Amino acid sequence: MDKTWAQEIFEKLKIKLMAECERNKNSIPYIPENGRYKDLEKPEGIFWWTNGFWPGMLWQMYNATKEELFRKTAENIEVRLDSALESYEGLHHDVGFMWLHTSTANYRLTGNKDSRRRSLHAANLLAGRYNPAGKFIRAWNKDRTGWIIIDCMMNLPLLYWASKEIDDPRYRVIGMEHAYTSINHLLRADGSCNHIAVLSPLTGECQETPAGQGFASGSSWSRGQGWAMYGFALSYRHTGDHKFLDVAKRIAHYVIGNFAQNDWLPLVDFRSPAEPVKYDSTAAMISACGLLEITSHVGEYEKNLYTNAALKLLSTAEKNFADWNIETDGIIGKGTAAYHGKPHETQVPIIYGDYFFTEAILRILEKDFLIW
Ligand code: GLY
Repeated sequence: MDKTWAQEIFEKLKIKLMAECERNKNSIPYIPENGRYKDLEKPEGIFWWTNGFWPGMLWQMYNATKEELFRKTAENIEVRLDSALESYEGLHHDVGFMWLHTSTANYRLTGNKDSRRRSLHAANLLAGRYNPAGKFIRAWNKDRTGWIIIDCMMNLPLLYWASKEIDDPRYRVIGMEHAYTSINHLLRADGSCNHIAVLSPLTGECQETPAGQGFASGSSWSRGQGWAMYGFALSYRHTGDHKFLDVAKRIAHYVIGNFAQNDWLPLVDFRSPAEPVKYDSTAAMISACGLLEITSHVGEYEKNLYTNAALKLLSTAEKNFADWNIETDGIIGKGTAAYHGKPHETQVPIIYGDYFFTEAILRILEKDFLIW
């Protein structure tokens, strides 16, 4: 493991994130515009699924540095998110992304009882989306009654945490059933996966697999492969069911082959036309974290495959896309929200790319803590 390189990056992260934190004490950032973050930029506002990543990054940095500004800023955002938790209608399945990185992180590090209550509340909202007939957690609202998406694998750790916290298996059972349904309808035999499956809400039968944020139906959206690999590895960590680790490794082998094919520069979709070239660095950062998670669960002689691939992804993105200027917000450029997305969300720094970059660097240095 190249700790010297990671230590150099950590020193840069401390300087850059302190400058960002000074500028953004009262903001919940997403994508910088002209080098500066704005507050709650999306029309979804306080309900937007990425709102936990900035405080999550600050909790990781607080844990690694004990710098109080990081903690105070993260705590303020957690309180601000209460209006979302109390409003309900605007929330989707992404309550895991939102409250694992805020209240659950706070509770894990400080034991704050208000934070514990927020996280249990969020876990109940997620469990309430479970469809027992089809054995899945519905992703989105309105008429999308039977839609499941691969990203949800990253929300399941909130359920696993709640089961352990109140010693009640219900949440873990829901998480595991959703994970099995995802294997059945989102995972493909070659280790790639669909972004979306539309299931019958009455029987769970698969009706359709639309393109989602990838190039097309049947293509291979790289961030989705990252969510799948990391998500199944985490389901293994929290449940001990070896099937989840086998699936995570199958996805890892597919992902490693595809990233290596393009010199570790991350395309938005592994099955898209050669032109135009569109990168999504966030897929590489999430995948690096997933690969590092797998190293925790395999034997000594297996680890190198996953560790080396993670380091390739991190160092290639850092070398080609990083902005260490402390006057500008955002670190890892060339993140892309969706293959056919809007220009201002295409090939730009995105908050979750920076979160996963930070998590990976701290993990290499053993300065991270488990947010998931
Ligand atoms: N969870 C939505 C995305 O990855 O863009």
